[in-house]
Amino acid sequence: MTSADTGGAVKALLLENIHPSATEVFGRAGIEVETRPGSLSEDELIETLPGFALLGIRSNTNLTERVLGSASDLLAVGAFCIGTNQIDLAAAAKCGIAAFNAPYSNTRSVVELVIGEIIALARRLPEKTQRMHDGVWDKSAHGSHEIRGRVLGIVGYGNIGSQLSVVAEAVGLRVIYFDTHDRLAHGNARRVATIDDLLEQADVVTLHVDGRPGNAGLFGDEQFKKMKPRSMFINASRGMVVDDVALREHILSGHISGAALDVFPVEPKRQGETFESALRGLDNVILTPHVGGSTQEAQEEIGRFVSGKLSAFLDQGNTSLSVDLPELQTPPLAGSFRIAHLHVNVPGVLAEINRILLEERANVLAQNLNTLGEQGYVVTDVSRPVSDSALEQLGAMPQTIWLRTHH
Ligand SMILES: NC(=O)c1ccc[n+]([C@@H]2O[C@H](COP(=O)([O-])OP(=O)(O)OC[C@H]3O[C@@H](n4cnc5c(N)ncnc54)[C@H](O)[C@@H]3O)[C@@H](O)[C@H]2O)c1
Repeated sequence: MTSADTGGAVKALLLENIHPSATEVFGRAGIEVETRPGSLSEDELIETLPGFALLGIRSNTNLTERVLGSASDLLAVGAFCIGTNQIDLAAAAKCGIAAFNAPYSNTRSVVELVIGEIIALARRLPEKTQRMHDGVWDKSAHGSHEIRGRVLGIVGYGNIGSQLSVVAEAVGLRVIYFDTHDRLAHGNARRVATIDDLLEQADVVTLHVDGRPGNAGLFGDEQFKKMKPRSMFINASRGMVVDDVALREHILSGHISGAALDVFPVEPKRQGETFESALRGLDNVILTPHVGGSTQEAQEEIGRFVSGKLSAFLDQGNTSLSVDLPELQTPPLAGSFRIAHLHVNVPGVLAEINRILLEERANVLAQNLNTLGEQGYVVTDVSRPVSDSALEQLGAMPQTIWLRTHH
């Protein structure tokens, strides 16, 4: 690994008890790691960050414009979680600090929870276990069903929806799905043309749509009415997608025979805070505190995934799945010299880079450009190292945010 700007041993600071799998990945990449169990305040970050090229956080560390602007040694930040609201991404991009997260690492965990819930609801386990705890022995097959051969309707066939489809078929469910995008059907799953088609056929409806604003209130009285009598409903996507009061009415009327909710329109902000919901206290309703993706395995995978992204960024200038910089993923050509150039996205930058490389008589083996908002990123692989004077010229271009080399 070489980078014109990093010099010496690269150091990473990992906050908030990030899984040790991250330290292992950094260790293999020769990156020195310092860990702290908790988060740091704005002032503490400003004091601590000098000397660190990489920073790993989870959801409790806020990276403000002030922190990012003062962290002159910081090259990249990893959010070892799904959300990135705690990072001022526009400020990070302006400073040229790459930010990464782990959008897929807990997919399997959500899928397994949903499979468990389908079986639990079909056997009416929430009320059975409650009665046993109350000391009531009520042995009966009434209202209990196998899930084999039942129709599972998946709304939103993205990462989670499509993986759920595969596992659900393996336990004998017949899968239909609706997605606003063309999504390839996995296994024997069948795409339906409209949500209404899905609601008409499904014995279990499960939502796995993303959080785009247009999805607010996607499921309300009208959709619940269209579901089959005695069908079941699951939402582990976003709380705002479902009208919980309408759902309550349909559960009380018996039209919906069971429901499992992991996400809610309003969720407590702090551990121990009271959870308020129209769905509390209903029979055959499973309520979980947004834990669909919360497993040890997901934490381990998040540690591995984000540290891998940060290492590949340092090692090769790879920005694939960056949440703030233009994405480029181009494995370096064997024996080549790589020039990575982040710049302000204005006309003429590529022409100027290539003018400098032409003057240098550099043989360009591969060149890739991508832009995102106000930033542009060019990665050029040339057949041999270019002169210091060419690098100086590239670095001195007024649009340059940073210039790094890898070979
Ligand atoms: N409960 C948890 O702990 C937990 C954990 C991880 C993810 N999630 C949530 O699960 C959801 C799915 O995650 P993912 O990684 O599969 O996302 P994804 O972006 O891969 O998939 C979402 C899919 O929904 C489709 N879609 C969007 N709006 C739609 C609509 N109105 N009708 C039909 N299809 C629509 C999209 O085209 C896409 O295919 C997200 O909302 C995510 O935040 C929850």
